[in-house]
Formats: sequence, structure tokens, C-alpha cells
Amino acid sequence: MNTKSSRPAPGVGANKDVAAMIRVDHAGEYGAVRIYQGQLAVLGADKSKAKTVAAIRHMAEQEQGHLKAFDTLINQRRVRPTALEPVWRAAGFALGAATALMGEKAAMACTAAVEEVIDEHYAGQIERLGDSDPMLKQTVERFRADEIAHRDTALAFGAENAPAYRLLSGAIKAGCRLAIALSTRL
Ligand SMILES: [Fe+2]
Ligand SMILES: [Fe+2]
Repeated sequence: MNTKSSRPAPGVGANKDVAAMIRVDHAGEYGAVRIYQGQLAVLGADKSKAKTVAAIRHMAEQEQGHLKAFDTLINQRRVRPTALEPVWRAAGFALGAATALMGEKAAMACTAAVEEVIDEHYAGQIERLGDSDPMLKQTVERFRADEIAHRDTALAFGAENAPAYRLLSGAIKAGCRLAIALSTRL
């Protein structure tokens, strides 16, 4: 997939590793967009939940920006996108819709859980990238800050008071970790 003129990056598994990072990040940002679309499909028209909806819309817009940036990187670096896009398309939307149907706090619990895993995931990438790819590293650092802000927003909206918070949060985190493992490879 890579051209012969690959430029090995010291300390990193070089281009293959970077390609896998871009693939999984692109998949994750797509999943995030779908989660928020699912939540907005359920809550978007509910005037009594206007504050929550506004917060979700703001986060969703930022996810669109993240996705766009990784779309560009996928094209520029000729990275194969995940083969699991149809899965994340359906699963992301379903997760967002299902948690929103459980209530505003469950929707926020979903965001808090997802963003906690993404924060760890991006932190790991930043460490692995070292000085090898400043452009990608800067992008990941910028997005990581947004994801942390999303987690904080979700907590401020009472994520932890959602019914069965620990169970819900644990299940969503496990799902995210699996999705990350799969999209790195596939
Ligand atoms: Fe994001
Ligand atoms: Fe996010």
C-alpha cells in the first residue's frame, strides 16, 4: 500500500503504524459523528431538552470538523479507510439513539464513556508519535483537547447520575476499545 519511498519514522513502526493510526482515528471520528446523529434524531426536536440538545449539537459540530480533517489525511496519505464503515455507521447511530432514548443523562453518560476511551487512545498515539510526525501529532493533540472538553461537558450535564451509570459506562467503554482494536487492523 505504501510507496517504495517510505520514510521511516524513528521510534515508530514507521508508515504502517501511522497509516493504522489515521485509519482508526478516521473510523473513530466517523463513529462519534454517528453517535451524535443518533442522539439528535431522538432528542433534537424536544424543546424541553433545549440545553442538552444545544450542547450535543456543539459537540457534533466539532466531531464533523475532526472527521473532515481525518478525511483529508486519509486522502493525502493514501490510507485505506476502515472496511468496517458500515458497521460503525449503524452501531454509532444505534448507540446514540439507544442512550438518548434512555434519557438525557444516559446520552451524556455515553459521551463521557466514549471520550474517556478516546482521551486514552489519543494520549497513547501522541506518545508513540514522538517527534516522528509533527503534523499528525498536532492534529491529535488538538482533537484530544476537544474530546476532553466533551467529556467534561457530559459530566457537567449529569452523566454520572444516569440510571445504571457504571454498567452503561463499562459496556460502552468495552465496546469502544473493541472498535478501536478492530479499526486499527480492518
Ligand atoms: Fe472527535
Ligand atoms: Fe468527541
